[in-house]
This record gives sequence, structure tokens and C-alpha cells, in this order.
Amino acid sequence: MSEEKKFLVIAVDGGAASGKSSTSRALAKAHRLMHVDTGAHYRTVALPLLRRGIVCAEDFFASEKPLEDLDLGTVVRGNEAYMSLNGIVPDDDEIRNDKVNAVVSQFASIPEVRRFLFEYQRRQKDVARERGFAGLIMDGRDIGSVIFPDADLRIFLTADPEARARRRAAEGIADSVAERDKLDASRKTAPLACPEGAVKIDSTHLTLEEVVAKISAMISAL
Ligand code: CDP
Repeated sequence: MSEEKKFLVIAVDGGAASGKSSTSRALAKAHRLMHVDTGAHYRTVALPLLRRGIVCAEDFFASEKPLEDLDLGTVVRGNEAYMSLNGIVPDDDEIRNDKVNAVVSQFASIPEVRRFLFEYQRRQKDVARERGFAGLIMDGRDIGSVIFPDADLRIFLTADPEARARRRAAEGIADSVAERDKLDASRKTAPLACPEGAVKIDSTHLTLEEVVAKISAMISAL
């Protein structure tokens, strides 16, 4: 009699441009997992705030109920789950540009913003199960520490800041990787840090394929 396979939860955290999303996307395909990029959630929430003229944390606190009337949903395409806002999934170039890069970490440091996304992100496990995936792989900054501290596998990806800045530049995107990392690591709520017990992988001298192969072997052994 074959034993029923356990539904897996994999957490992948790391700094800006550390390769979290590309790695997680490839692992999702290889292991029939649903991939959720939580960075995209923070980027998506930044859009209605920017539209209201909110460009920093001070503006956020000065405006009345800035997160009210924002309805969050999930659209699954292949192995990828995207967050919709009031029924619409924003295009990639809307959320990945220098305007959003410049404000996203400030918004992500606001406890109300993080609380707003917490339940939604936890719920993605049920979405993955309902859709028949073998598990969930979620990447971000606080997945292994706050969202799923009980995950079956927690990975923390690092790479030299120069290597990460080079990768972002190769994508043709203006981004202050080091500056966002500083903000993310120094904030009070859910700071970027390698949680105890997580597997740390330095990808400075590894290719994407090598990182994927390393983690893939760990997932297969679960
Ligand atoms: O693509 P990149 O690695 O540069 O960043 P991202 O994963 O798209 O995340 C954008 C920003 O959202 C980060 O700089 C963090 O400020 C914030 N974020 C967060 O605070 N917590 C998460 N779980 C994911 C992202």
C-alpha cells in the first residue's frame, strides 16, 4: 500500500535580487508545487497607494484608511499564483519598475501593511491544496520566520551585494538593492534575517541551475 504523500510547505527567503523567485519558480515546476512570490504582493499594494499620492510611510499614516476597499484575490496560471487587487492582476512592468522599487520597502516596513497581507499569505496554502498541487513554495523576506515558521523546509538565499546588483542591472532594471536590504533588515516588524534552523545557501558563485539542484534534492528527501 502506498503511503499518501504529505502536502509540503517550502519557505524561501533572502535579500533583494538574491534569486529567490527564479529559484522558487523552477522548483515549483519540478515538484508540482504552487509558487507564491510575496514580493509581488508588497509591490501590488504599492500601486493604489502611489495612485493616491502616498509616497512614504509618513504619507501613509497621514491618510485616512489607505488600505480600505482593497479586495485581494488569487489567480493561478500554471504553477504560479498571482495576487489580484479588486479583481485585476497588475502587469509585471507595472510592479517592477524604479518607481515601485523606490517606495516598496518603506511600505513593507509599516506593520499595518504586513498585517493586511498576513492572513492572505497564510491562506495560499489552502488555495494550493484546493487546486491539487503537491505543496506550496513561497518566497519573500519573512516566510520562514513569520508566515510559515512551521514550513517543512526553510531556505535562506544570500549572495554578495555586487553580484545581486549585477543581476538586476542585467535585467535592465534600476534598483538600489543594497538600500532596500538595509531598510528590510533594519525594520522592527519582520526584519530580513536568516531564521534559526533555516538552510543558508550562498549563491554568489553558483548558477541558478546549481542552486535549484541543491534545493531540489532537499525537497525530494522530505
Ligand atoms: O525582487 P526583489 O528580490 O528585489 O524584491 P521582492 O521580493 O519583489 O520584494 C520587494 C520588497 O517587498 C522588498 O524589498 C521588501 O521590502 C518587501 N517584502 C517584504 O517586506 N516581505 C516579503 N515577504 C516580501 C517582500
